[in-house]
Amino acid sequence: MSTQTATEQNQAVAYRSESSRSKALYKRAIRVMPGGNSRHSTVLSPYPIYVSYGKGCRVTDVEGEERIDFLNNYTSLILGHADPRVVQAVQRRVALSTAFTMPTELEVELAELITSRVSYIDQVRFCNSGSEAVMMAMNAARAFTGKPKIAKFEGSYHGTYDYAVVSESVSPDEWGDAEAPNSVSQPGLSPRVAEDVVVLPWNNKEACRRLIAKHSDELAAVIVDPLSLGIGFIAPRPGFLQMLREETERHGALLISDEVLSFRVSYHGAMHGHGVSPDLTSLAKIIGGGFPVGAVAGSARVMSVFDHTKNWRVHHGGTFNANPVTMTAGLETMKQMTPEAYEDLERKGDLMRERIARMLADRKIPAQICGKASLFIVHLTDQELVDFRSLQGFSRNNPVYGELCHQMLANGIVTTPRGIFGCLSAPMGEGEIDAFVDALDRSLASLGYGH
Ligand SMILES: Cc1ncc(COP(=O)(O)O)c(C=O)c1O
Repeated sequence: MSTQTATEQNQAVAYRSESSRSKALYKRAIRVMPGGNSRHSTVLSPYPIYVSYGKGCRVTDVEGEERIDFLNNYTSLILGHADPRVVQAVQRRVALSTAFTMPTELEVELAELITSRVSYIDQVRFCNSGSEAVMMAMNAARAFTGKPKIAKFEGSYHGTYDYAVVSESVSPDEWGDAEAPNSVSQPGLSPRVAEDVVVLPWNNKEACRRLIAKHSDELAAVIVDPLSLGIGFIAPRPGFLQMLREETERHGALLISDEVLSFRVSYHGAMHGHGVSPDLTSLAKIIGGGFPVGAVAGSARVMSVFDHTKNWRVHHGGTFNANPVTMTAGLETMKQMTPEAYEDLERKGDLMRERIARMLADRKIPAQICGKASLFIVHLTDQELVDFRSLQGFSRNNPVYGELCHQMLANGIVTTPRGIFGCLSAPMGEGEIDAFVDALDRSLASLGYGH
């Protein structure tokens, strides 16, 4: 084990050195971009590592240092970086032009692929991000039901649409009643937005039933991510998702499954294993094969609100919707994600969670590991995990994760300063899993955990 202190180890990493190119780039960035970035989820203090290229499960930064990437652009790269078949297909496609005001066969093919795999999806419309997909799903639900309100879970992340960000990031002084959480706005939103959002407590069946019933006259939809990173991947209790299906149906509201991130857990969709059929589903990330993408999908009955030949109530434009480059990369990626490929990732995910758990138990570090298939998160606590509130104190806002992230980077692993969270990509094997577990072991030790 290294005898270097945490600070010494940090400074040994080239990107933190005086001659760092990342440091120089960040200096330029803060002059031309507020905070020096275009994406808050990539912020790393004191400045980010600027990347040069990626191949398979490894990325190389502008200093020339290579690391194993356990973030995969926040889960969107299920085949890792620059998969040869995706690259080849995209290169061929780009030479044939990148965007048209005419549709291509590719969007039909990708829509057919998705509908053939997911039993609760009859139809799909593509857009350019998960946030847009969530926005279109919420708008479709309002148009279909004629009601204005959306219910979402406290702490869950659904992107940047106004109604999605309500109560996404809430501090204990804003929480309010555990049985009826406050609807907490953000400065950039109209205060009226929060009035149209009903905030639900995760895993509390009775409170959810009451809140859905109370707002039923105005409730267009409940949006739920069956595996929400914002709620620390805390699994839904048995029957919880089924209850949401029953209550929404009973009260004339739709159920939206936000699978932008969680679609990577199953060939048949994230709701498949729960036996729940949502009315609408938002997709993004992996279905774009590394390119910007989103999709709103669902039953033909509800999706008819987008149909200009029938029941058209929701306008849906977008200059780059279903552009052939994204469709090509998405198709090439999703075709490689066969049932066997999903099984392989799930097996490796199980192994990962098992090895992390064993290492932490050996070191007598209290911890719980949540996640499913290729997704994992480690919570450094033995307290019972039920909902967003039960994560307080050791969730992503704990400053220890910033230091831990730097330690992991020094040990050759890309993770995030927002928790011990990550995902596997198809090219990873046991070697990479062991590298992660060893790096976590060393990193926690250097911060004084266990041992
Ligand atoms: C569950 C969920 N919904 C929506 C989004 C927003 O997707 P995008 O970043 O493509 O706008 C994300 C992004 O991480 C997400 O995890």
